[in-house]
Amino acid sequence: MPIHWYPGHMNKASHEMKSVLKDVDLIIELLDARLPFSSQNPTIKELSTTKPCIKVLSKSDLADPALTRDWQAHFEQEESVKTLATNLDIKHKAESVLHLCQKLSPKTLRSTRTMIAMITGIPNVGKSTLINALAGRKVAKTGNEPAITKGQQRIKINEEVTLLDTPGILWPKIHNENSGYRLAISGAIKDTAMNVEDVAFYLSGYLLKQYPECVNQLLDTKTLPNDDLALLEALGRKRGCLRRGGQVDLEKVSSVLVNEFRTGKLGRISLETPRMIPAEEAQVEQLKEEKKRRDELRKAKRKKK
Ligand code: G4P
Repeated sequence: MPIHWYPGHMNKASHEMKSVLKDVDLIIELLDARLPFSSQNPTIKELSTTKPCIKVLSKSDLADPALTRDWQAHFEQEESVKTLATNLDIKHKAESVLHLCQKLSPKTLRSTRTMIAMITGIPNVGKSTLINALAGRKVAKTGNEPAITKGQQRIKINEEVTLLDTPGILWPKIHNENSGYRLAISGAIKDTAMNVEDVAFYLSGYLLKQYPECVNQLLDTKTLPNDDLALLEALGRKRGCLRRGGQVDLEKVSSVLVNEFRTGKLGRISLETPRMIPAEEAQVEQLKEEKKRRDELRKAKRKKK
């Protein structure tokens, strides 16, 4: 699925993030609990072994609770990582994050100066909601305000913690095609930058395989549709997404399905599990190798000419 969504300012923001990381004591990385792997920033992934990191699994009220626990255990295998699953309970969210910040604060730092905690997260993951909860007031979105030119802002939370906010960014290339679809389903990628039918077909196929009981509930039936197209057509007829002549309007029903996922109407669903990832990463490596070989071959051919 070709995705055209990476504006220039995001690239700049990613470079800026790398350059300030050395001055940061702790990283608070917001992940979407429904896609904790795909919503991870690769830059942070590289550096998380050296800096203490709190991975906040946001929107856990929409995710599959058992899989959220699996993801937390998976991430916490790394010594420097602690995790938190949060929902819309703002007060609890702020208290838990601050408690972990204090716990992870480097010993040498305590009582000498304020801790700098960098907060990151892809668009729409719930970063502003968390920052507002921590600050106890509405803070302007970093990068979305013309006045904030550096793309980062410092927000004093209390005497112990200052947040360094970074713009909500995605990365230039998503090598794992599955991650691209999952990000699109979650709403992290703008709908105008993707083909909603492709995304809905991916989601339908996944639901049939991993959450058949949700499909039965969605269609109010005991018999599962044969495939992704049959699922979308059945839903289209149920929701009245029809063209003149009674044919299902696939574009319309695709938007309906994706929106019902985003708002939790389909139930608590996660789009990936820790067990799925090694095979996907191996496939990405294989594709990279194949591309490298093709590029080398092309170069050699050109040289010959
Ligand atoms: P961002 O800064 O990372 O871009 O995200 P932001 O906080 O603006 O949140 C994006 C949307 O996600 C908001 O909904 C917000 O209410 C919702 N959200 C944030 N955290 C959670 C959570 O833990 N659970 C659920 N279910 N939703 C969460 P919105 O419809 O875009 O705006 P609004 O209804 O809050 O005005």
